[in-house]
Amino acid sequence: MPEPVNVWEYEQLAAERLEPGVHGYFAGGAGDERTLRENVAAFSQWRLRPRVLVDVSEVTAATTVLGAELSLPVLVAPVAFQRLVDPDGEVAMARAAAAAGTVMCLSAIASSRPSELAAECPAAPRWFQLYCFRDRGVTRALIDEAVESGFDAIALTVDAPRAGRRERDLRTGFEIPGELGAPAVAAAIGAERSVSIQEVFSLVDASLGWDDFGELAGSCSLPVVLKGVHTGEDARLAVQHGAAGIVVSNHGGRQLDGVPAALEMLPEVVAAVEGRCEVLMDGGIRRGTDVVTALALGARAVLAGRAPLWGLAVGGEAGALRVLQILRSEVELALTLLGCPSPCAVRVEHVRGGPRLDP
Ligand code: FNR
Ligand code: LAC
Repeated sequence: MPEPVNVWEYEQLAAERLEPGVHGYFAGGAGDERTLRENVAAFSQWRLRPRVLVDVSEVTAATTVLGAELSLPVLVAPVAFQRLVDPDGEVAMARAAAAAGTVMCLSAIASSRPSELAAECPAAPRWFQLYCFRDRGVTRALIDEAVESGFDAIALTVDAPRAGRRERDLRTGFEIPGELGAPAVAAAIGAERSVSIQEVFSLVDASLGWDDFGELAGSCSLPVVLKGVHTGEDARLAVQHGAAGIVVSNHGGRQLDGVPAALEMLPEVVAAVEGRCEVLMDGGIRRGTDVVTALALGARAVLAGRAPLWGLAVGGEAGALRVLQILRSEVELALTLLGCPSPCAVRVEHVRGGPRLDP
């Protein structure tokens, strides 16, 4: 069996190997999955505009995000329950991300809690993704565990006051196995047993407002990135309330079906932020050229969820690392052929096209 040569081949292999219910959970989106499809399709609406006779004898994919050096402008997005696809789950993913020279963002609903990840791979640069719970004590306990476990940033996810309607899971009857639970949340609520995804979402604070976010960001010793912003209006509010960064994201098409592709919303958010904080995006990243297109539209870097996850599913830690290495080599080649010696050299002039967005 030849090694997969790109993310698509990892995706195909994962589909062949995973049990249908598990595959449906990771591959699926909400409702009719329009946004899920459009996240990927949006990249084919842009064309790259290479400049020639630029010195590209030395090209690097390296960049910085929140001041941290990354070997490629791709972070590993928070994806829940990774032990469903590999026995080492998020620990394997964190090791792969560290070996690839990038950051892994650990989901609050991961099958490993922050302290476990830190103990297993202390050198891995890591962010902690948080949902804000009605019980602020639970939220604080999760933040404290991340801070004490050496995490570098908090990514507060704000597009999921409730879980989206995932119809693949309804069709297969898939449920997260009880033993996987969300140990971080279970510990924070003092539960003796693991908690289900439904239970976690029942604890999320759907009344959260901008002042609450400002208070959380102001009282947290780590930089807080806001994940799940779609609009320029909310991007301005995020900056005003202390966001250290913004992730333009629709949760991989798993929340409100019918929102535009994240790539489509990126320019609006970048324009609204006016350089006051770093803007990242996620949703549909499958190729190095997708990464470079997002950079051209103003992203500092991107996050990839399913792409490294398919690598983990197919080859464990080595598979996840291979996917990140493929993406890095594709980014390096795209930069070279675009006439950009580094990610910071990519400008909006390096792309053309894109959908016409209504004013
Ligand atoms: C996610 N995502 C997610 N986001 C988050 O903030 N907390 C979470 O626990 C999860 N869990 C999760 C599970 C699964 C199975 C998927 C596919 C996604 C969303 C994730 O962080 C990211 O926004 C998307 O995955 C990006 O889209 P791509 O890269 O998967 O196309
Ligand atoms: C999901 C939750 C865990 O997308 O964020 O499945």
